[in-house]
Amino acid sequence: MAKFTLPRNSKIKAGKKVDSANDAKRKKTFKVYRFDPESGEDGQPDNPQMDEFTIDLDKCGPMVLDALIHIKDQVDSTLTFRRSCREGICGSCAMNIDGRNTLACLKPIDEVSGDVKVTPLPHMPVVKDLVPDLNHVYAQYQAIEPWMKTDSPAPTKERLQSAEDANLLNGEDGHGPAGCILCFCCSTSCPSYWWNGDRFMGPAILLQAYRWIADSRDEATGERLDQLEDPFRLYRCHTIMNCTNACPKGLNPAKAIAEIKKLMVARH
Ligand code: SF4
Ligand code: SF4
Ligand code: FES
Repeated sequence: MAKFTLPRNSKIKAGKKVDSANDAKRKKTFKVYRFDPESGEDGQPDNPQMDEFTIDLDKCGPMVLDALIHIKDQVDSTLTFRRSCREGICGSCAMNIDGRNTLACLKPIDEVSGDVKVTPLPHMPVVKDLVPDLNHVYAQYQAIEPWMKTDSPAPTKERLQSAEDANLLNGEDGHGPAGCILCFCCSTSCPSYWWNGDRFMGPAILLQAYRWIADSRDEATGERLDQLEDPFRLYRCHTIMNCTNACPKGLNPAKAIAEIKKLMVARH
């Protein structure tokens, strides 16, 4: 029987436990993934570990991001994570909380019963603690050329579109592809992207590609479809739907991918 050996640093060790809640009435424990690339010796970082922080919930705001900020501010300043807007707009605080990819700033602590487990977005290289390396997905984003391409002469004013055409981007319910904040909760929950992320574009980038394909003002639709017509870039999507279930903004990347596939068929 074949034997497989996991890389040495793939095992997550138990980490430190810090209780800063004292005799607080409302306590909560956060189990947080920690990885420090500068730890260890001989260029071999120490294995990741799960640290446990018990905090007084009356001393921080209601969201998981508030708790992480409280821990960084009051308990362990080395804890590293991305955040910016704290209102679900920038996409930078995406992580896995209680087993689901989501935005830490939109995830109420009260929604998690028991301890709150926080790990980075899955199946991405980790830069440090909760910070995934997004270089590859951004390179894929660049590859779809996410800007308006036109050949016709520029009008004297802006390029207009009808309300119906704008709805293709914004969605009648406000959940169209233009609402994507590039948090990558969808791509990192997609099994096809886990296994073929080097060549499959993944749901976030395909939804962005569709956003430009569907834009009535863009004049490069054929070129954009040519670029995606490939067994891997588009067709590794097997309609598993994890992406749509994961999107914290309520968007539907699986539907956007299906629309691209329909356009591919229609043009042949
Ligand atoms: S529908 Fe499934 S396979 Fe396709 S992108 Fe979404 S999660 Fe991945
Ligand atoms: S489709 Fe949703 S989950 Fe995917 S990147 Fe955009 S906002 Fe995030
Ligand atoms: S901090 Fe911007 S989306 Fe959470």
